[in-house]
Amino acid sequence: MKYSTQKLAYPYFIAALALFLVQVLAGVLAGSVYTLPNLLAESLPFHIIRMIHTNALLIWLLLGYFGAAYFLIPEESERDIHSPKIAWLQLFIFVFAALAAVVSYLMGIHEGREFLEQPLWVKVLLVVAFLLFLYNVSMTVLKGRKTVVSTVLLLGMWGAALLFLFAFYNPDNLALDKMYWWYVVHLWVEGIWELIMASMLAFLLIKMTGVDREVIEKWLYVIVGLALFSGLLGTGHHYYWIGTPGYWQWIGSLFSILEVLPFFAMVLWCFHMVYRSGRNHPNKAAMLWTLGCPVMAFFGAGVWGLMHSFSFINFYSHGTQITAAHGHMAFYGAYVMLNLAFFTYALPQLRSVQPYNQVLNMWGFWVMTASMAFMTFTLTFAGVLQTHLQRVVGMGFMEIQQQLDLFYWMRLLSGIVFVAGAILYIYAALGPTKNQVSSSPNLQPTHK
Ligand code: HEM
Ligand code: HEM
Ligand SMILES: [Fe+2]
Repeated sequence: MKYSTQKLAYPYFIAALALFLVQVLAGVLAGSVYTLPNLLAESLPFHIIRMIHTNALLIWLLLGYFGAAYFLIPEESERDIHSPKIAWLQLFIFVFAALAAVVSYLMGIHEGREFLEQPLWVKVLLVVAFLLFLYNVSMTVLKGRKTVVSTVLLLGMWGAALLFLFAFYNPDNLALDKMYWWYVVHLWVEGIWELIMASMLAFLLIKMTGVDREVIEKWLYVIVGLALFSGLLGTGHHYYWIGTPGYWQWIGSLFSILEVLPFFAMVLWCFHMVYRSGRNHPNKAAMLWTLGCPVMAFFGAGVWGLMHSFSFINFYSHGTQITAAHGHMAFYGAYVMLNLAFFTYALPQLRSVQPYNQVLNMWGFWVMTASMAFMTFTLTFAGVLQTHLQRVVGMGFMEIQQQLDLFYWMRLLSGIVFVAGAILYIYAALGPTKNQVSSSPNLQPTHK
């Protein structure tokens, strides 16, 4: 770590991990309600638990990106962050807004529209915090060295903020409401967030493999191009049944195929760079996450996404447990693992120690990844059965839910194991370390 303002990342990572724990605990609670339907029905209804689960996810992922930007931008720009005070203010506002959202959900105050349930004033606060961030990092980049990595990251963060503005537009016409809703929900994760993912991976690859920046950046251009080209019109796979014109059936189906490409390219990229470099990096755990992330993203987003993207399949599978299976593995593989990779890489430097607790951290990797894969499989089986019974046989929704009980118990079990993995990871990352403190840990890749 060369610049003192990189330390700003540390409180962001701590806040992110705290909310990660809240998120997965809420997930277990939601999964318990699935198996014991009357659990907490009066005091904390399912839809509130679900809101806390999904909102905490999005908020902590964003906190992770902010922290990563504060860590990465100084090294790329070769100068300190423009204003540490603004970074602290931003953190304070963002976390306050997140807590305010949770409290209002608990009191039953929310706006509906899945993922965007935050009360209006909370949304305004989130935008204010986002603008403070954009001002702060843009000033840093503008005044310093400009690299492809920091430009792509900035593009991603600006795009994420601009697209969030569609959360404020909620037309009465239900078809239009849904159309704009997907601008946020789809264009984030299948467009602009892929830029954030690619740039953070690029930084990790540059630092850990020692491969020339020029080579890594060439791939970055290709991935950014593929992501934007496929993701923008890929939104069509959400426009099949909401009242939009029929041509979306074709556009959505065809562009969904292309959407697999950026994820596949990221797998090739990461493995190729690591093997090409022929070097070792002392932070083995960070390397594992950096390779695991694109693989799981490829399966979760690419394979599980494409599986139900053709309009003639989606006609049957729409809104079933198949969707939830895909949502879990895609979010975990792409964005959760991305952040956990970055934390694993940056935390030893932020704490001024050699990479520490690596075995424990890697246990966290395997426990979380295996249990998430298991959860995805159980939900996929449940979804296929549900699709058949509901859309082919024509049985009633609640009657089918009873048939799926076994799958819901298995999902709950894998969820509990996942939480154990998350606790392992958080303990490894933030808990005590036996390694000696040194002001400049040696983190250069070494020859094999
Ligand atoms: C990391 C990237 C991705 C993430 C995080 C993600 C996440 C999600 C989530 C959470 C939903 C559920 C939305 C809702 O109805 O509440 C969803 C739906 C969907 N996703 Fe993705 N996704 C990703 C990439 C992809 C890709 C690449 C494809 C296609 C190749 C795809 C195809 C779909 C389709 C077709 C649906 C609608 C399912 C339905 O009709 O119920 N997704 N995605
Ligand atoms: C990092 C890990 C996790 C991620 C990224 C994640 C992500 C998500 C997402 C995106 C949704 C909305 C799905 C959709 O609209 O289709 C969701 C819902 C849900 N999640 Fe998770 N989740 C995680 C962990 C867990 C855990 C550990 C459990 C425990 C069993 C869990 C249980 C649930 C339940 C029950 C729902 C509601 C599903 C429904 O409404 O039918 N999640 N989660
Ligand atoms: Fe999508």
